[in-house]
Amino acid sequence: MSPIFPSVPPAADDGLDFDAAITRQEQLCDALEALADSLPERIDTYAAMQLAGRIVPTLKRCQRLEERVVFPMILERAHAPVQMIDRLRTEHMEDEDQAIQLTAAIRAYAQYPHREDAGSLGYALRGLFQPLRRHTAFDRDILLPMYRRALLD
Ligand SMILES: [Fe+2]
Repeated sequence: MSPIFPSVPPAADDGLDFDAAITRQEQLCDALEALADSLPERIDTYAAMQLAGRIVPTLKRCQRLEERVVFPMILERAHAPVQMIDRLRTEHMEDEDQAIQLTAAIRAYAQYPHREDAGSLGYALRGLFQPLRRHTAFDRDILLPMYRRALLD
């Protein structure tokens, strides 16, 4: 006998959403590094403006998933140390502050690309993608496996 209702996927995901969120942040870091490498002569100002508009929304979406879903789950089921989660939350806030400043700096440079400002923009770009890479590496290597194990419990 065929079921009356179509099968419904399980409510809990299998970690793919978190994996995808980490991947989006890694891609963001790569794009920021590529922009830094293009300074000062090879900058595509249109692409830079497009990228500037994606930085804060990308970070916020990924951080919200972690803070609302991943952190509570691994605190409860994997007994993750509270200090570790506090540190990750602090890093989120620091990255977001840096992202807001960087967005303004990219937009200003893309509108008026003066060669003498390229150094400070490069510095601001590294100020986000370097710590964000360390953060996402921790997310991928430590948090994601913890989260996947917690989903199975
Ligand atoms: Fe994170």
